[in-house]
Amino acid sequence: MFLNVQEKGICMKCFLPLLFCLVFPVVVFTQDAAVKPKVLVVYYSRDGHTKKAAEALAKKFGADIEGLVDIKKRTGPVDSVAAGKDAVTHKLTRIAPVKADLDAYGIILIGTPSWFSNVTPAVRTFVSQNNFSGKKTGVFGTAHMTGVGSCMNDLAELVAPGKAGDIPRLPLVHKDLTEDILSKKIDEFYRKF
Ligand SMILES: Cc1cc2nc3c(=O)[nH]c(=O)nc-3n(C[C@H](O)[C@H](O)[C@H](O)COP(=O)(O)O)c2cc1C
Repeated sequence: MFLNVQEKGICMKCFLPLLFCLVFPVVVFTQDAAVKPKVLVVYYSRDGHTKKAAEALAKKFGADIEGLVDIKKRTGPVDSVAAGKDAVTHKLTRIAPVKADLDAYGIILIGTPSWFSNVTPAVRTFVSQNNFSGKKTGVFGTAHMTGVGSCMNDLAELVAPGKAGDIPRLPLVHKDLTEDILSKKIDEFYRKF
């Protein structure tokens, strides 16, 4: 039953390197899968800027990605004013059910547009519905020009109350969303994980 290497005419000199070549990739592959946690990027984007950052992050991290859907209409002059007011007053909203099973992920990156320096209601709601303790998390966000740093501080505090300082942040303004600047900033962010 057992392979008699000498009987089969395979000398030990050839057999051992052959065995090494067969076993080594299996060991490396399984170790790699064991140390690399799965990554999920969850974001809300009304106008596409945060989506652009989310997609670039997902590519860099090899992550799954899911966009949050706010059931409440957020476009048009009247609803935009209400959107800003809801963000500033920290209102929750109704979001479509998230399809991803968060338990399957070791790293979760959460992204929001900054609305008057505040987290959007959709992202605030998503965070309020989930517990991220025991997971590595990071936050990212976009603003036209101002307020995204403060928005990131608030989001980090919502995700990890009292431990926000440990959470990597990626605040972006529109001029950062060119391919080369974005990829440099994402590389810096990636190194924190
Ligand atoms: C209600 C509201 C408030 C905003 N407030 C600010 C602001 O205070 N400063 C700023 O630079 N941009 C502000 N913006 C612009 C957005 O932060 C920016 O366009 C962001 O990238 C939008 O993300 P999105 O394209 O993923 O929806 C605001 C946009 C909205 C709709």
